[in-house]
Amino acid sequence: MARRNKIYEGKAKIIYEGPEPGTIVQYFKDDATAFNAEKKAVIEGKGVLNNRLSEFFMTGLQAVGIPTHFIKRLNMREQLCRQVEIVPLEVIVRNYAAGSMAKRLGLEEGMQLPRPIVEFSYKDDSLGDPLVPEEYIAAFGWATQQELDEIVSMALRVNDFLSGVMHGVGIRLIDFKIEIGRVWENDFQRLVVADEISPDSCRLWDIETGQKLDKDVFRRDLGNLTDAYTEVAKRLGVLPSNVTHPNKPTLIN
Ligand SMILES: Nc1ncnc2c1ncn2[C@@H]1O[C@H](COP(=O)(O)OP(=O)(O)O)[C@@H](O)[C@H]1O
Ligand SMILES: [Mg+2]
Repeated sequence: MARRNKIYEGKAKIIYEGPEPGTIVQYFKDDATAFNAEKKAVIEGKGVLNNRLSEFFMTGLQAVGIPTHFIKRLNMREQLCRQVEIVPLEVIVRNYAAGSMAKRLGLEEGMQLPRPIVEFSYKDDSLGDPLVPEEYIAAFGWATQQELDEIVSMALRVNDFLSGVMHGVGIRLIDFKIEIGRVWENDFQRLVVADEISPDSCRLWDIETGQKLDKDVFRRDLGNLTDAYTEVAKRLGVLPSNVTHPNKPTLIN
């Protein structure tokens, strides 16, 4: 039996070589980590939900003209994507103060920011993904100034799209993180949204009650994480329909 090649195993996903050159398969694990992997757990069903939710957001972005790496979902836990060269940055967009920003500036969590703010962390687990100014990014060559300008404008467009979709289902998009990749098209390089968009990488609060529906539920022990993600998936109409069918063959992956 042929065995596919594992390219990389990260905290939340495994990346395999795809069937065609220039493609990869993302396998969504149930592993949850927080605080730079100091806190770990296996959360039953998380991978299935994130695979679905990321598919939903990526196809939605493509539909409004924002390019992504997503090609198609393969099964409950896997999706086929274009292989990209990841820009080593976490691109963070914030609409309301929360998390590290609230802490750094002494702001109350949930305070609306004067406008959406885009910030960058250098993607390096051993350093704890430190916040870096654009000046560093250009100087160290992690991205060119031209790429940075494009990344900021993409990030703000993603923010408009995601905020709108979430608002439509009674959820406030507090902040989120995306990763950007480079792909070659003929002689041109262009940037696409890569990695995943899911409640692992967003802060989502119920507009009415303020209830947290994202990974903070795990970080701060606020309840059942799968229930929170299921609520998001239900509201968006993207709940997996065939999780348990007792009399049918079961997907092993
Ligand atoms: N289309 C892609 N091509 C190549 N690498 C990708 C692509 N999308 C995401 N990645 C990378 O694959 C890894 C996904 O696994 P993940 O568990 O999230 O890793 P990490 O622990 O580094 O966050 C990340 O390092 C991410 O940057
Ligand atoms: Mg990751």
